Amino acid sequence: MASFIVTTTRKPDSAQENFAEEISLKLGGKFLRREDFSFDTLKKIHGVENILLVKKNSLSIVTEEGELFFHPNTAHLRIKNLRGGEGDRLIDALKISEGSKVLDCTLGLGSDAVVESFIVGSKGKVVALEINPLIFEVVSHGLKNFSEDSPHILEAMRRVEVVHADCKDFLKTCAENSFDVVYFDPMFRHPIKKSSGLNPIRPLADNRPLTEEIIRDACRVAKFRVVMKEHSGSAEFERLGFKILDGGKYSSVAFGAIDKTYRLL
Ligand SMILES: C[S@@+](CC[C@H](N)C(=O)[O-])C[C@H]1O[C@@H](n2cnc3c(N)ncnc32)[C@H](O)[C@@H]1O
Repeated sequence: MASFIVTTTRKPDSAQENFAEEISLKLGGKFLRREDFSFDTLKKIHGVENILLVKKNSLSIVTEEGELFFHPNTAHLRIKNLRGGEGDRLIDALKISEGSKVLDCTLGLGSDAVVESFIVGSKGKVVALEINPLIFEVVSHGLKNFSEDSPHILEAMRRVEVVHADCKDFLKTCAENSFDVVYFDPMFRHPIKKSSGLNPIRPLADNRPLTEEIIRDACRVAKFRVVMKEHSGSAEFERLGFKILDGGKYSSVAFGAIDKTYRLL
């Protein structure tokens, strides 16, 4: 795991310090009192690349590419569009509706998982996996604690069931057809740097490509469909057996699907 220390904002209250200590024990990183040090000084003195920062009501990670924190901004806009009757490319690709069960293998910043959760509602289920412990900690804390005025978004966030796991291992534990769809949004083989929303996640995110074994397991676990998001024109679609879906003609991002009925396992 990338090197890190845990600290708080300047002038923390005791709850912040206690929480910072608790997390540092859980994750195995050192807790240091912030005093009046800048992040750069703390990184230099302790020879670490990242700082897990405990704020009053939230967590963030200061990486060399910026600050990584949970915010439902993107999900907010997409849910607003969906409620206004507009489509969403991910939801169209997943073909999910109220009551569907989704396994989202790549939680990341959680935007896709929140939108999925909004669509499937309380009768459905979204389980989202994240392999990196720091990303997992920040995003799962945000999903549970971020306060939000819109009840639709608040409920969608709280309903996401997050698991710290490698999807390769988690899929092995799942029964056949136990989710309607399985979704992958791996780090792109060729990153789109201008999509700056993901920049702070890059130094921490797991960059390994998906394997044929993972996709085979996903096809066993999904009742209907396995979906992957990648760069338009990515060779990953063909390598892993995905059919590229229509839509997003002018977008740099594409979705591919494997429909269970069309695949010989
Ligand atoms: C592109 S981001 C996902 C973004 C996400 N869809 C969103 O809406 O914010 C990919 C995430 O998947 C995680 N990841 C990569 N390989 C994984 C694996 N084998 N198991 C679980 N998570 C994985 C990365 O660490 C990273 O956080």
